[in-house]
Amino acid sequence: MPATIVLGTQWGDEGKGKFTDLLAADASMVVRYQGGHNAGHTLVVKGESFALQLVPSGVLYPHTTPVIGNGVVVDPFVLLAEMEMLSSRGVDVSRIRVSGNAHLILPYHQQLDALHERHLGNAKLGTTKRGIGPAYADKSMRLGIRVQDMLDEKIFRAKLHTALGHANKVLTKVFNRLPVDPDQLADRVLTECLPGIQPLIADSINEIHAALEAGENVLFEGAQATFLDLDHGTYPFVTSSNPTAGGACTGAGVGPRHIDRIIGIAKAYVTRVGAGPFPTELFDDDGDKMVDIGREYGTNTGRRRRPGWVDAVMLRHAVRLNSLTELAITKLDVLDTFDTVKICTGYRIDGHEITTLPYHQSQIHKAEPIYEEFAGWNTDLTTVTDVEGLPANARRFLDALAKQAGVPITLVSTGPGRAQYLEYETR
Ligand code: IMP
Repeated sequence: MPATIVLGTQWGDEGKGKFTDLLAADASMVVRYQGGHNAGHTLVVKGESFALQLVPSGVLYPHTTPVIGNGVVVDPFVLLAEMEMLSSRGVDVSRIRVSGNAHLILPYHQQLDALHERHLGNAKLGTTKRGIGPAYADKSMRLGIRVQDMLDEKIFRAKLHTALGHANKVLTKVFNRLPVDPDQLADRVLTECLPGIQPLIADSINEIHAALEAGENVLFEGAQATFLDLDHGTYPFVTSSNPTAGGACTGAGVGPRHIDRIIGIAKAYVTRVGAGPFPTELFDDDGDKMVDIGREYGTNTGRRRRPGWVDAVMLRHAVRLNSLTELAITKLDVLDTFDTVKICTGYRIDGHEITTLPYHQSQIHKAEPIYEEFAGWNTDLTTVTDVEGLPANARRFLDALAKQAGVPITLVSTGPGRAQYLEYETR
């Protein structure tokens, strides 16, 4: 490894958890660097399914230290609930580290997220309503409350008074809601959350660098994905953090020269939840089939995901934005019963054919996909155990996708289980 980033190349839900879990087998540390419990990773281990939101995927291995980095926004109530769920299923959660510099999501952030969405009406973003945007907004406004603030009651109460001095004006005067009492909230957090979280609060920068200096493998786990990035995604239909590779550096406290390998996870088709442009979106039977077979409903919110064919224009852009060294393809088996499968290789916009992502979003809204079609493989890939067993048509699809993206495909997932994957070599 030693320092590897795993991140999503589309609009999230690529199945990052599966490969993060796989790579974590060789890592001593798995670090989340952005986002919060808007993420949802499902890991299937020995037939048992674990749904994680905040805790890094590596938690299921006894030898890894899962780290919640400084760039993450942490709802302390959710973190505790997740730890309790894991403990009750026999997972040791005492190894988890939470950066003292990570910011807290508190209940008023969630209330504001929901109120902002309602206020936007038809222009709503379709957020997860987990308080992500308001918590990052407070961080930028210097009104945020950090995990370390809980360790000093006087500071914690003072900061809550300041933050709520602002938030309460918005709640009462803009949204006509009741104000939140800062001291009551402080009492709740300090009595219900702090005792469970305090032993985990750490100087994550020091611990991550100690591991890197000792030559250990450190895995940086992105949540959401490239096209939900606040700077590089389809703004404003994005999340409020930087899932791209640069976000791993700021959100974990490492410089770019530490990173050796950057693996982009791409689904063999694409899905998107919430609003925003989506050139290859399908509104036909093929789309319904992808949703049904791929069980494309939000892990957290239960929302139906919007389906579409895989888009190489976006993948090429993701390769550039993230300096991807390779791609890992997930859910190839979902396409097993399709007679024809497609890759979008370019867009037709106002009669012109282009192969790069237009910077002007109105153009993305207008883009008509240009497809390369491939014969399907009509084979159950979930039972294929080595790369030689892959049907030629599946290889043709993968090799064409790698060629279009401009980086090799090194891993292919052929089912939800931990063991259902193939190490791939692009031809
Ligand atoms: P937020 O992150 O809750 O503010 O939501 C902003 C946008 O990101 C919405 O379109 C969400 O549907 C999307 N989003 C946030 N987290 C995820 C995720 O883990 N998977 C897919 N989409 C997400």
